[in-house]
Amino acid sequence: MCGIVGYVGKGDAVPVLMNGLSKLEYRGYDSAGVAVYDDTSKNVNICKTKGRIQNLQDKLYLTPLKGRLGIGHTRWATHGEPSDINAHPHSSGKEKIAVVHNGIIENYMALKEELMDKGYKFLSETDTEIVAQLIDYYYSKDSNLMSAVFKVIERIEGSYALGIICSDFPDRIIAVRKDSPLVIGLGEEENFIASDMPAILNYTRNVYLVEDNEVALITKDNVKIFDNNGSEVKKEVFKVDWDIEAAEKSGYDHFMLKEIYEQPKVVKDNIASRLLDDGISLDKVKLDKDDISKIDRIYVVACGTAYYAGLVGRYLIERVVRRPVSAEVASEFRYKDPIIDEKTLVIVVSQSGETADTLAAMRLAQKAGARTLAVVNVVGSSIAREADDVIYTLAGPEIAVASTKAFTAQVVVMSLLALKLALELEKISIEKYRQIKTEMEKLPSLVNKILNKEPVIKRFMHKYIGSKNVFYIGRGLDYIVSMEGSLKLKEIAYLHSEPYAAGELKHGPISLIEESTLVVGVVTQEELFEKSVSNMRECKSRGAKVLAVAMDGNSEIRKYADDVFFIPRTHWMLTPILANIPQQIFAYHMALGLGNDVDKPRNLAKSVTVE
Ligand code: G6P
Repeated sequence: MCGIVGYVGKGDAVPVLMNGLSKLEYRGYDSAGVAVYDDTSKNVNICKTKGRIQNLQDKLYLTPLKGRLGIGHTRWATHGEPSDINAHPHSSGKEKIAVVHNGIIENYMALKEELMDKGYKFLSETDTEIVAQLIDYYYSKDSNLMSAVFKVIERIEGSYALGIICSDFPDRIIAVRKDSPLVIGLGEEENFIASDMPAILNYTRNVYLVEDNEVALITKDNVKIFDNNGSEVKKEVFKVDWDIEAAEKSGYDHFMLKEIYEQPKVVKDNIASRLLDDGISLDKVKLDKDDISKIDRIYVVACGTAYYAGLVGRYLIERVVRRPVSAEVASEFRYKDPIIDEKTLVIVVSQSGETADTLAAMRLAQKAGARTLAVVNVVGSSIAREADDVIYTLAGPEIAVASTKAFTAQVVVMSLLALKLALELEKISIEKYRQIKTEMEKLPSLVNKILNKEPVIKRFMHKYIGSKNVFYIGRGLDYIVSMEGSLKLKEIAYLHSEPYAAGELKHGPISLIEESTLVVGVVTQEELFEKSVSNMRECKSRGAKVLAVAMDGNSEIRKYADDVFFIPRTHWMLTPILANIPQQIFAYHMALGLGNDVDKPRNLAKSVTVE
């Protein structure tokens, strides 16, 4: 997804912009560019190109840009193919005004026609170019850049974070935000803008979080932020406490591997201050018996991996709390006219807190009167700010597109939430809770034990890398783990894989089983063991290879599988946390073995901020 960085200060802008863009690579992009004000020619010069940031670096080597004011962008195509012309920044006619934009201008066609009637010419197919041209149009009337920007935001509809520079004002960046993240980094005689913290973490930890419909005027010594009426807004400085190391690879070959190995800490961080002796404390969320009794309908809404974490939550709340819960993917939930009222609780799960469908689903629920509870990783993200209650997943920045540690954190939090509800409604005793708490506290070291067996999984990769189709099967919680395992393999290994409820195999997919098929059978739910292994046997007898994930000590499983990965024993509720980790490592090694770009898989974006 697109990324923005901007610099105004005493230093050279280009290295800062390029560094920032490289930190935004993980968001997924197909082109990149920078616009820099040149003190000598008094022009804004643009350099942009399709492809990787290295291509931009090469282009800048041939035609260097120099200046102390600039904006940069990584683009993920939405309007018009990935190309040099469609890459950002976009400019008005003579590159007087340059703009970078994240989001979508929904009414851009009508505005484009209006401007074309006035004689404006467009070079690109993008919605963004109209922003630059429309600013130019209003600016040409009274040479007041700020008022031109205000007029433009009255005209444009959709979502946008904008960074704007103009050759008539070499001392400033104007930044605007609506429904797309934007922060302002505060430095000494230099200031920054960014769509995402890692872009500026090398330079500052002090930021202003720009809110929707705010406009900022940023010079090297000053930042002024205005609401959409033009009144100045006073902001608190937000201190980013992420370690800079946390946003980098720390010696691992890939961000994904680093993030997989961070999971013991992530699990620990998520339980540390929450598992109390006499109950569970979920940050500032108040969910006592009284609150819960007011709720008669619960939805869990999310996208992608977060949705699977949501499914674990639904399963546990239903099994342990005995309250019905619907889990829905956000893009479906939004359009089905869901039944929502003041007695509805909508739990949204999102790593980024910016996923367009999840955010829209949450807003829809709020409008209909529901109470919303967000399980979010990114502090200060839109979902986190707008939800009634937030539980942070404390996973730190997740850079690899394929989610690993964020999923684990989400599952831990959903498990805590289920336990909290169960305790409040007296569905489990305090003694029972304490037993589960003891098991939870062992999880970080159990995750470590699994990580220590990475070489075993690497051997499986060598054995199964030639598989043409992969089925992941399981029952109950194991089925949910299968869904996430299969998604991971699709995302980064680009292998066709499907998750199936093991009992459904006979209703169709078994016809696809042949010798080149790999079946990954997850069998941690011992009450369902006999049923699941009988499905695995059906696959094996039709020529498939079977790789099982089972609990330590279950020697019986060897009869039904070609290979087994054993995970340490734990309470049945907690098995998804452990059983998912070998799936992550397997997908990682399969992707590597197949020569894929593990951290930046093709066609995928980390944060899907368009619908
Ligand atoms: C994209 C990412 C997934 C993520 C999903 C939802 O598809 O590639 O890893 O699970 O979006 O994102 P969210 O930030 O809302 O969890």
